[in-house]
Amino acid sequence: MDKLLVQGPCQLNGTVEISSAKNATLPILAATILFPYPVKFVGIPDLMDVGTILKLLQSMGINVTKNDHEVLIDATTLNNQHADYTLVKTMRASVLVLGPLLARFGIASVSLPGGCAIGARPVDIHLMGLEKMGAQIEIENGYIKAKCDKLKGAVVKFPFPSVGATENIMMAAVLAEGVTVIENAAMEPEIDDLADFLMAQGVKIEGAGTSHITIHGMKETELRPSGKSYRVIGDRIEAATFIIAGIMTKGDIKVTGFNPSHLEFVLETLKKMGAKIEIGKDYVHIHPSDGLKGTMVETLPFPGFPTDVQAQMMALMSVVDGNSTVTETIFENRFMHVPEMIRMGARINLKGNTAFIEGVEQLSGAPVMCTDLRASAALILCALVAHGQTEIQRVYHLDRGYEKIDEKLTNLGSKITRVKGS
Ligand code: EPZ
Repeated sequence: MDKLLVQGPCQLNGTVEISSAKNATLPILAATILFPYPVKFVGIPDLMDVGTILKLLQSMGINVTKNDHEVLIDATTLNNQHADYTLVKTMRASVLVLGPLLARFGIASVSLPGGCAIGARPVDIHLMGLEKMGAQIEIENGYIKAKCDKLKGAVVKFPFPSVGATENIMMAAVLAEGVTVIENAAMEPEIDDLADFLMAQGVKIEGAGTSHITIHGMKETELRPSGKSYRVIGDRIEAATFIIAGIMTKGDIKVTGFNPSHLEFVLETLKKMGAKIEIGKDYVHIHPSDGLKGTMVETLPFPGFPTDVQAQMMALMSVVDGNSTVTETIFENRFMHVPEMIRMGARINLKGNTAFIEGVEQLSGAPVMCTDLRASAALILCALVAHGQTEIQRVYHLDRGYEKIDEKLTNLGSKITRVKGS
């Protein structure tokens, strides 16, 4: 397993171009299952999770051609509606193939994704929605066995605005008979991007990005290639990670290639703490900021503070003046970065789903362990400002969702070495 050696403290300066969003790319690649013709993508990020879903599509008989960041997917030849545990266990988002498989073939066998470090990650809302649309679903030997004659449009009311469930039902609705309405839908920008991709293929959708989404079902014969390549939106979570890195190191960095309106609440919070932030159309420019103050954050579904930026925000809070609190309301176990940060000198107390952080003068380098994707990012941020060397182990967690983050940070002036694992 690779590890990263980071010499701190450093100051980041320069410009970084953000890659396309992992959490938009995964559902959009799953959606290609619906279309019996080739679809071309540009700017697909080079991430482990993207590699996994492309392998999963190929395992179903789908033709995948990848040339650097360009990907051509042709699901005409799909002949196997089975998503195997060996692939699904490495990436939970594989469950997003369920809706499109059922919609197009009326049958699907998808391994239950199982939990992960941050929580049990059930899929009950996904399954409730598909049953509402007429699917018969059994759980057998760890697999979701689903079948239906033809999915029917329905009004699907979510008990919680689940991102993945919204995406699965949206995709299932594309080839269902009639109209599907999702109430209490997730409103994340990645949902909006999935809708934009589907509408580019001729699907009629209203209300994407709001809590009430209407999808008009089509016949497979009505689907038409868009004739244009599709580019996924910039990754707002990667952008937030670099923005916080610039602020923590008191540097001057420009973060480009994403839509700042996708990070409104995060940018407001950082400004409230005292960060000097200039917001452009497709960039954010961090000017050297000093004397930041602590604040309170509670993670919520979009447009609230995103849970995927919680760990990175806690890294910043651990080195500003004064006290802060972070309340995690989305996942039940998303404080795995805390013990590792404490080993670097952070002062954090946990009480239920709230972390109490007392800002310290400085952190010190130490050997630390990655536990999940965003916790890993938080450890890198701490290492950038810690005095001495930090050895970050199990960086495969990081490689799942950040494209060449060590290279990007090196180009901004940090001292990071990747040590190839055995
Ligand atoms: C997506 O996960 C993202 N992953 C996550 O990003 C992100 O943290 C999450 O949305 C919330 O924004 C991808 O898009 C690939 P949810 P997802 O369904 O769809 C509960 C990262 O770091 N729930 O909105 O799994 C669930 O247990 C990852 O990039 C049910 O109870 O999120 C959780 O507590 C981590 N039943 C909450 O809802 C269900 O059927 C949010 O889950 C589904 C979800």
